[in-house]
Amino acid sequence: MSKKLFIKTWGCQMNVYDSARMADVLAPLGYRPVDEPDGADMVILNTCHIREKAADKVFSELGRLRILKDEKASADDGKMILAVAGCVAQAEGEEIVARAPYVDMVFGPQTYHTLPEMVAKASRAAGSVLNTDFPAESKFDFLPEEATSQGVSAFLAVQEGCDKFCTFCVVPYTRGSEFSRPADQILVEAKRLVASGTREISLLGQNVNAWHGDGPDGSTWGLGRLIRSLAEIDGLARIRYTTSHPRDMDDELIRAHADVPQLMPYLHLPVQSGSDRILAAMNRKHSADDYRRLVDRLRGVNPDLALSSDFIVGFPGESDADFAATLKLVTEVGYAQSYCFKYSPRPGTPAALESAQVPEDVKEARLQALQQLIGAQQVAFNQGFVGRTMPILFDRKGRRPGQLLGRSPWMQSVHAEANERLLNSIVEVRIDDARPNSLAGSVVTGDYASTAHNPVHALEARA
Ligand code: SAH
Ligand code: SF4
Ligand code: F3S
Repeated sequence: MSKKLFIKTWGCQMNVYDSARMADVLAPLGYRPVDEPDGADMVILNTCHIREKAADKVFSELGRLRILKDEKASADDGKMILAVAGCVAQAEGEEIVARAPYVDMVFGPQTYHTLPEMVAKASRAAGSVLNTDFPAESKFDFLPEEATSQGVSAFLAVQEGCDKFCTFCVVPYTRGSEFSRPADQILVEAKRLVASGTREISLLGQNVNAWHGDGPDGSTWGLGRLIRSLAEIDGLARIRYTTSHPRDMDDELIRAHADVPQLMPYLHLPVQSGSDRILAAMNRKHSADDYRRLVDRLRGVNPDLALSSDFIVGFPGESDADFAATLKLVTEVGYAQSYCFKYSPRPGTPAALESAQVPEDVKEARLQALQQLIGAQQVAFNQGFVGRTMPILFDRKGRRPGQLLGRSPWMQSVHAEANERLLNSIVEVRIDDARPNSLAGSVVTGDYASTAHNPVHALEARA
């Protein structure tokens, strides 16, 4: 009999990917994903620990789920296995078990391949199963093939973990040390994705550009070489990778941005701060000028390349002058978009112990100022596309009937009136209007040049 599985996911794209893999592991046990937790036989909260509120949300969600679990038990409808996975589970596993003893399983990101054993234990036992090990074996060697297609745009985890130990960050503790999957495993998975209809693959890793592995030719490959090899897969039209650390952008990866047409001209390259003093205190191990030079090199090889970044405001000891240096860097680099966060002290990280914490009102004011600058850059970036034609990968239906929604090479959301037959294909679209968070365009029907090889386009052009 089929059992209902509900997974709720917080955090980064790696967590989204992991949730899908957990569903794959559980499929042979009869679990099928559902959209609501009510009446589910298993609920997994896949959690994120990156900033404060993330863990609070988990505990309030658990309070609500406990009611559903009790209702199911009193209706004699079997047991709802309640599980907490992900980075909060890894960091605060024991606290979860103590504070919420009705939770059946608590397990960290490196244990997902052992889910069948954990489920067997949790079904039998009354107490919680806690597993926050970092096993010697790689889970990727044991996870099953993907049960269902991810669709036209897919994630592929190639690297996990982090050895950088930025002083603000929990990731090295929650995900463990840097691990790269072997190149052949990645290539096989990529080919399988493409065979199931994927046209765009986003390579994932906490430090994705630290990826390295033995290539089929016996030499050690870096990410640039891997991307070149992926680009040879027939039918794979777009390649992206995220998230990169500025220190791991090597020459070959930079070159890939010049001459691999499938590699999209958009790079998320977090810098966190524009102040050398703060960058040093963060243990980023590069200066603001190192970053500027890197951006210049990238744009030198590909002038079309758009950048995004993450920023932290109010890191301990950040002065007005330090913050001004961040604004200066943002102004000089010019971002397509960016994410700004108020520094959030995380238990177990060095920066949390600093005495010079920045007051909340100062953090808030800096956040507003930075967001304003970044918002203005985003609007300007998007407006620069009005009147231009670009290839859009339509990956879902729009909100209004007759509308499709897709992504530009630069990660913008683009919507256009379009025949449903164009769903899951790459179509030339002329941009008519730019909003801060999306673009509106029209399908270019007369342009056969870049679409002639695709019969779907030809059909639409005649229609
Ligand atoms: N591996 C990536 C980022 C992972 S976390 C990298 O090295 O860039 C995603 C973002 O969350 C970080 O880039 C940082 O801007 C933010 N972040 C991490 N820890 C934080 C903290 N303690 N407070 C506020 N923001 C934080
Ligand atoms: Fe965290 Fe720094 Fe590692 Fe990124 S590089 S995951 S910010 S420790
Ligand atoms: Fe969050 Fe863990 Fe990702 S802390 S950002 S889910 S690596």
